[in-house]
Amino acid sequence: MKLKILVTAGDGIGPEVTNEAVAVLKEIAALGGHTFEFDYKRIGGIAITTDGTPLPKDTLDAALASDAVLLGAVGGNEFNSLPPDKRPEAGLLAIRAALGGFANLRPCFSFKELTSNSPLRPEVIDGADILFVRELLGGLYFGAPREWNKEKGEAFNTMRYTRDEVARVARIAFKLAQNRRKKLCSVDKANVLETSQLWRASVNEIASEFPDVTVEHQYVDAMAMHLMNRPKDFDVVLTENLFGDILSDESGVITGSLGMLPSATIGGKVNLYEPIHGSAPDIAGKGIANPCGAILTGALILRHSAGLEAEAGAIETAVRKMLEQGYRTPDLVRGKDHGYTVLSTPEVGAKVREMVKTILVNA
Ligand code: IPM
Ligand code: MN
Repeated sequence: MKLKILVTAGDGIGPEVTNEAVAVLKEIAALGGHTFEFDYKRIGGIAITTDGTPLPKDTLDAALASDAVLLGAVGGNEFNSLPPDKRPEAGLLAIRAALGGFANLRPCFSFKELTSNSPLRPEVIDGADILFVRELLGGLYFGAPREWNKEKGEAFNTMRYTRDEVARVARIAFKLAQNRRKKLCSVDKANVLETSQLWRASVNEIASEFPDVTVEHQYVDAMAMHLMNRPKDFDVVLTENLFGDILSDESGVITGSLGMLPSATIGGKVNLYEPIHGSAPDIAGKGIANPCGAILTGALILRHSAGLEAEAGAIETAVRKMLEQGYRTPDLVRGKDHGYTVLSTPEVGAKVREMVKTILVNA
């Protein structure tokens, strides 16, 4: 298996955590005789500083010429006063649009070993396993017109969807549900928004192609509550761009840390892979960031861009085993007498690699 992966590590903790994801992928390549080629390019704040733009042309060209893009994180406090189209985040939105992936898969699961990290009771979260399918190229993020008119003291954004945009992401979500517990919950605000009424009607149209999948619809406000009250009731959760952004962060509470969660964006020319956490400038460069979200994102590359399911599973098992054995980055420990072995970012990476090796060699 040959794979060309472009790494756009970005800002803050991005470079430290993607280093560990790359090292795990290199271990997998060495064990299985695969050729994974890595190329590195700038995106986000670092690219603004060096190239004057958050998505330089050579980064975009390299991304389009690769089989998969692994992105770290973008953003930094020094850019906070810039308008949306000049910020590091604009680079991320531009690369998303250019690569064309419209279905952002955000698996959210509880780790038995981390249940005490969540403010939710163990019996509420234990066994929760949700796959968010977030529409990534439409809605308020990309809708035009958009403007902040400072003289007028007025600003607006446009929430716009077409039936085809809903249908294509819904199809992916239904297919994924068929291979899971065959339940799909579509989230909207159809009691207020026309875009949501179109969303609901379009999802229902696609539902008829998948009679084996049970469909329910929830309003986003109610869903925000259901996710915390009864996360185990949900399997695939399909929603539009902004609702998906909000609900996926909220659901980090189920896992106990956003630092554990990966994502994959599929359906376009080149798949884009990114952990769902941000650039965490407060802990950047200290070697204490949790690399598990990035490492698990590496597993999604193997699953969705390489068809290496066993190897993807090995990474996921290795992360669980590492937690089972009591290893933690500092973000995962509370108080003094926790009894865990606190490891640095590279040490966690090394543990995962060691365990991946044991799993694959004994398979
Ligand atoms: C995410 C992030 C991004 C988003 C930001 C950084 C633009 O929050 O991937 O969830 O809003 O999509
Ligand atoms: Mn987000």
